Amino acid sequence: MSRHTVTLIPGDGIGPEVSAAAVRVLSATGVELDWQTEVAGASAVGEHGTALPPRLLESVRRNKVALKGPTETPVGTGHRSVNVALRKALDLYANLRPLRTLPGVNTRYEHVNVVVVRENTEDLYSGLEHVVVPGVVESLKIITERASTRIALFAFEYALTHGRKRVTAVHKANIMKLSDGLFLDCCRNVANEYSQIEYDEIIIDNACMQLVLDPSRFDTLLLENLYGDIVSDLCAGFVGGLGLAPGANVGDEEAVFEAVHGSAPDIAGKNLANPVALILSSAMMLEHLGEKKAAKRVRAAVNAVLREGKTLTRDLGGQAGTTEIAEAIAARV
Ligand code: NAI
Repeated sequence: MSRHTVTLIPGDGIGPEVSAAAVRVLSATGVELDWQTEVAGASAVGEHGTALPPRLLESVRRNKVALKGPTETPVGTGHRSVNVALRKALDLYANLRPLRTLPGVNTRYEHVNVVVVRENTEDLYSGLEHVVVPGVVESLKIITERASTRIALFAFEYALTHGRKRVTAVHKANIMKLSDGLFLDCCRNVANEYSQIEYDEIIIDNACMQLVLDPSRFDTLLLENLYGDIVSDLCAGFVGGLGLAPGANVGDEEAVFEAVHGSAPDIAGKNLANPVALILSSAMMLEHLGEKKAAKRVRAAVNAVLREGKTLTRDLGGQAGTTEIAEAIAARV
């Protein structure tokens, strides 16, 4: 087994609690991980004067892999989102969110197995907003052939290498004919290269309705940045909520693994947060590092604890704290 150095970004709010839980579970796998801890978000502003210190970027560039807790972004004012800045700085163009029904988790949906592939670098998240005249603001939606083609390639490659059958591009090209039209053109061109994978398209509003009716009909969803952000939270609801939804931000060089959820200030510091989302994100990280057996063991341990139903956090209807469920999962590993 080889040794891996990984950048650990605990983040804000519940971030330090859930990342400690994930580190605890990973330590039980026996995989040799050297953690380099770096601060980001609101917790970095005081110490470094910036929410995204350059030394953090250097660390991720050096190690190629990071595990990240959520970071806080003030609404309307204040510093720019660390996530958006980090994804841009490292060109982590693919946001990957696999959402599967988990055993023992009470939801209204069964057999959900959807992978959301979201473009991570452009669209309305380009941060290009300005006041035209007082009372009128303009926010620019940027869609490029380059970014659309590479996210489509990522989605089809992922589908091919993970035994998936169909990629569905989600769009609003009936209204945004140029921008979403270009996105669709790129998806179609890439789809033509992958005859083994089915390809279809659906308009975003219909997609939401069809998803809510029966998410099990969908396989791999391919979306621009904003639609992907919204639809992946929607899909997280099908499998039991944000406390269970893992994710990764992947580029050609680096990959940052993080849960879909935010810093949850309402429950921070109370040992109430569900660490499963970040623990499942760290299983994705182990797979990325080539530690496939360890990744499998982590997933099996999570499933066993959920199925057993004795050590569950409050969001899952239980009484256990963050540390207790982490210990239970670590013990199973
Ligand atoms: P949020 O995901 O932090 O919380 C939404 C709701 O879900 C809250 O009621 C929270 O208690 C609950 N929740 C979230 N994660 C949970 C967990 N692991 N266990 C149990 N319950 C959980 O979203 P919100 O409130 O919109 O954002 C709070 C902050 O997080 C904002 O500053 C936002 O910018 C930031 N954020 C950061 C993200 C990241 O770093 N990747 C992603 C999303 C939001």
